[in-house]
Amino acid sequence: MVLFRNLGPYSTTAVGLGEMPLTIENNLGHEMGIETIHAALDAGCRHIDTAWAYYCSGGEEQTGEKLVREALSCWSGPKDEVLVATKVGHYRNFTDGKPTWGKDGKPESLIAHAKESAQALGVDAIDLLYFHRPDPEVPYNESVEAIKQLLDEGVAKEAGVSNASVEQIDIAHEILGDKLVAVQNQYSPIYLDTQDTLEHTAKLGISFVCWSPLGGFRKPKDESKFDAFREVAQKHDVSYQRVVLAWELAQGKHVFVIPGAHRPSSILDSLQPVELSNDELALLNKAL
Ligand SMILES: NC(=O)c1ccc[n+]([C@@H]2O[C@H](COP(=O)([O-])OP(=O)(O)OC[C@H]3O[C@@H](n4cnc5c(N)ncnc54)[C@H](OP(=O)(O)O)[C@@H]3O)[C@@H](O)[C@H]2O)c1
Repeated sequence: MVLFRNLGPYSTTAVGLGEMPLTIENNLGHEMGIETIHAALDAGCRHIDTAWAYYCSGGEEQTGEKLVREALSCWSGPKDEVLVATKVGHYRNFTDGKPTWGKDGKPESLIAHAKESAQALGVDAIDLLYFHRPDPEVPYNESVEAIKQLLDEGVAKEAGVSNASVEQIDIAHEILGDKLVAVQNQYSPIYLDTQDTLEHTAKLGISFVCWSPLGGFRKPKDESKFDAFREVAQKHDVSYQRVVLAWELAQGKHVFVIPGAHRPSSILDSLQPVELSNDELALLNKAL
């Protein structure tokens, strides 16, 4: 049984699929992307997270959003139950020959990209549109005002901000009011710097969506942070990833996780976080 939670006006699965690994560098190809999204949906996942910028540096733009659209269009299940979230404010680039993430929070760019996102997703209005990352070249309120304009014009139904501090969440909340339904920040046992934002969103009644909830698909900096999770997992005879996701979801009823996957087996496993006892939660908290 997949866990559902309220995210703004939506009831959706607490575990969503992070689409990014399916279309950025080192993806396993288009067919595997479609298969992975279908596996998630068939198993009951109703939350997909993508972005304008989920494509390979130097390649065709918006391949992530296009993949999600294609996967949904050839899926025979209830498409209207699926919350698709996307983000604007990043684009792909190269620095010293390596793929990187450029920031562009200029209002005109956010507005143009969000309209392109709606088009690539094949929707009149985006379910949930995040401002992807603060752009130091643009005052934060000006970027968020662009998101407000997109809501007012009906390009997006609900809004979120990502990679935001407590101060930035407050600015966004002031501008967007109750249309700010989600904050998407990095959060996992190896990255707890955003704990203050997790607690702040709970107070504001805004959902908190953990990105890279398993530490990211590149090797996490400090693998030892997962040791206690491995021990608990051994007792349950499950992967430690299921314990990590369960621990994150236990941080509050407003918390969601969007694990990435390159293949069906990873997301199928992640869609079943284990039930943790209070003693196990206390043990994990103590270990961090
Ligand atoms: N807002 C932002 O700025 C931002 C930034 C980064 C990411 N994100 C979002 O967050 C999502 C998740 O982040 P992420 O993809 O970087 O990292 P992640 O979810 O922390 O880790 C994904 C990796 O974990 C593996 N995995 C997933 N479930 C597993 C399981 N049950 N057992 C074993 N391995 C498992 C996957 O393996 P396989 O590769 O073998 O399938 C993949 O390599 C992204 O897809 C994206 O949607 C947002």
